[in-house]
Amino acid sequence: MSGIRNQTQAAAPAHQVAISVRHVGTVLGGVRIHKDISLDVQAGEVLGIIGGSGSGKTTLLRLMLGLERPTEGEVLVLNHKLGNCEATDLAQVRHRWGVLFQQGALFSALSVFDNIAVPLRELKSLPKDLIAELVMQKLQQVGLKPEDGIKMPAELSGGMIKRVSLARALIMDPQLLFLDEPTAGLDPASSKRFVQLIESLKREMDLTVVMVTHDVDTLFALVDRIAVLSDQHLVAHGKLEQVVQMSHPFIRNFFLGHVQRCAEDNIRSFRDALHHQDDPLPADPALAHPQPA
Ligand SMILES: Nc1ncnc2c1ncn2[C@@H]1O[C@H](COP(=O)(O)OP(=O)(O)O)[C@@H](O)[C@H]1O
Ligand SMILES: [Mg+2]
Repeated sequence: MSGIRNQTQAAAPAHQVAISVRHVGTVLGGVRIHKDISLDVQAGEVLGIIGGSGSGKTTLLRLMLGLERPTEGEVLVLNHKLGNCEATDLAQVRHRWGVLFQQGALFSALSVFDNIAVPLRELKSLPKDLIAELVMQKLQQVGLKPEDGIKMPAELSGGMIKRVSLARALIMDPQLLFLDEPTAGLDPASSKRFVQLIESLKREMDLTVVMVTHDVDTLFALVDRIAVLSDQHLVAHGKLEQVVQMSHPFIRNFFLGHVQRCAEDNIRSFRDALHHQDDPLPADPALAHPQPA
């Protein structure tokens, strides 16, 4: 592992709880979204969150990021109770996670390089050469070329926007990565390559990942456990092969036609096949022939 994490953060010991959501209820604008949600995310795992549209998946991520406050219960991230953090305390924790929001949200007036450098420049103390070195390293890590740094967001394909957003999310070498529908809007081939990229970065950077997705292939490729939201409640939280057997109507419907695939052996061979595809990044047509957005 290289980069800024070594200089600023201790790695989370394995087999520890990275995030703990305890009896959380959420009411926003008078509308109840969650009731008594309790779940944990182990250090080093990938937790997938699924649920119907409007079931409160994004809100659950926002609670874990301290962007919303729970109405009841509490959320602990890396042993910090979010609501209780002093401003300086929260700033410390915030540097330990990266987020890829659903829309990708790059600053349209900034180049790729400057977009990725934003979190580093906020630190105000880093020399220019170090910033340039770290940005170039991240560009390469997400499968982009150094010359892509001077491009503007409007010149990028959907796949490239996701990669730049991911590079920015990872520029502080965080311990935690939050992904909201990371493959939404990508064609199947780009989506597959993006999932491969997330998987290899997860291993390379020893990340703990919380990911909202509605894509079954993405779940197969990445998650250790899933959490299922329905009717304000957490209706399941466990390994894919266990959850898929449950008779809850949302779960049955979501995995309709995929139950056999969810057997542990099948997941293992699917992942082996995904990992052993040679050099997937340069072959991405979305990167070779970017279309103007
Ligand atoms: N700040 C807010 N004020 C009022 N309602 C909100 C707010 N944020 C989200 N909601 C509502 O909460 C519900 C869950 O939203 P969200 O977490 O975005 O769902 P999902 O990501 O599962 O589609 C939706 O009905 C949404 O309209
Ligand atoms: Mg959402």
